[in-house]
Amino acid sequence: MSKLFDSVRVGRYTLQNRLVMAPMTRSRAQFDGTPGALAARYYAQRAGVGLIVSEGTQPSDDGQGYLTTPGIYTDAHVAGWQKIADAVHARGGHIFIQLMHAGRMSHPDNTPHHRMGVAPSAIAPGTGMFTAKGMQDIPVPRALTTEEVHQTVADFAFAARRAVEAGADGVEIHGANAYLIQQFFAPSANTRTDEYGGSIENRVRFAIEVATAIADEIGADRTAIRLSPGTTMWGIDEGEEGPQLYRHLVAELDKLGLAYLHVMHQGNEPLLADLRKLWRGKLILNRPGRPREQVGADVASGMADLEAYGSMVLANPDFVERLKANAVMNEPHREGFFGGTEKFYTDYPTLSEVQAV
Ligand SMILES: Cc1cc2nc3c(=O)[nH]c(=O)nc-3n(C[C@H](O)[C@H](O)[C@H](O)COP(=O)(O)O)c2cc1C
Repeated sequence: MSKLFDSVRVGRYTLQNRLVMAPMTRSRAQFDGTPGALAARYYAQRAGVGLIVSEGTQPSDDGQGYLTTPGIYTDAHVAGWQKIADAVHARGGHIFIQLMHAGRMSHPDNTPHHRMGVAPSAIAPGTGMFTAKGMQDIPVPRALTTEEVHQTVADFAFAARRAVEAGADGVEIHGANAYLIQQFFAPSANTRTDEYGGSIENRVRFAIEVATAIADEIGADRTAIRLSPGTTMWGIDEGEEGPQLYRHLVAELDKLGLAYLHVMHQGNEPLLADLRKLWRGKLILNRPGRPREQVGADVASGMADLEAYGSMVLANPDFVERLKANAVMNEPHREGFFGGTEKFYTDYPTLSEVQAV
């Protein structure tokens, strides 16, 4: 496990270790998308990991899907993120803001503008979503015009510019978990007949254009992307061509020289091995539900350069110290995952706080 604690070069940065806080939506922003008052404290507490990837953050009004998620496109958003970036840097940490456009995973009751979600095609995901009025079915989204797809690419680049203005070290494009970018990949969500639908080349075009536009805007060495090949949730079916789509996509992205590729692994080991070979840059791997005894195995085997953990970091602000000390971990409390106050947000104790009681 010791290799995990070695510093590593990622993009233009030297990170203090190879452990990454996976992006986690916490739904505690203000209604206008400005990060909440406790967010700087929350992230600073966890700045002992080499890299923090922030909660999914909308690049535009239409990018929002869930209640009280943060944005990064207004002056108020930038001022809020500045406090977070400063607090993380003061502790020697690094933070990339995850740019998340929810696409069709959106409900009009969750956004200040109350508009219908937008998507590659007018196909509902066939699932429900928590809203201000409780659980509701997600309605059929509005299909983006070709011109609007171009505008959405520009929105991502604008948000990336604002993220670095706020002092973030870079951005991670959310290309995973059934949100807008992955909706373009999946024939079940994308029946377009323009250059963004049909062939594999067309379905990955949006992702590549977003990555290219952001890299041009802020530098490839501050641009990263997260993918989850084979996601099956929320009406996403990438079909038999799915693995081939990812081989093509990763080979194309590799040419851009991005800071890192972040894979949220869905279980296809041969595909993961292929992607590892196709990607010459740094690879961050997140294996959902990875038991603590396995922490470090992927870095040790060479399958990954860094490992990302979500709920264990959420519940353990001093995750790295606990690993080093082989100490017991706090358990995450699901009831505090989304929304609420400091409870199960900034009040998880460190080891020394536990020992002091
Ligand atoms: C509360 C919560 C919120 C999440 N929000 C996001 C998100 O905004 N973006 C994202 O890419 N993944 C999100 N995820 C997925 C995590 O990044 C991670 O992939 C997942 O928790 C599995 O890793 P783990 O078993 O180490 O927690 C979220 C997970 C949790 C628990």
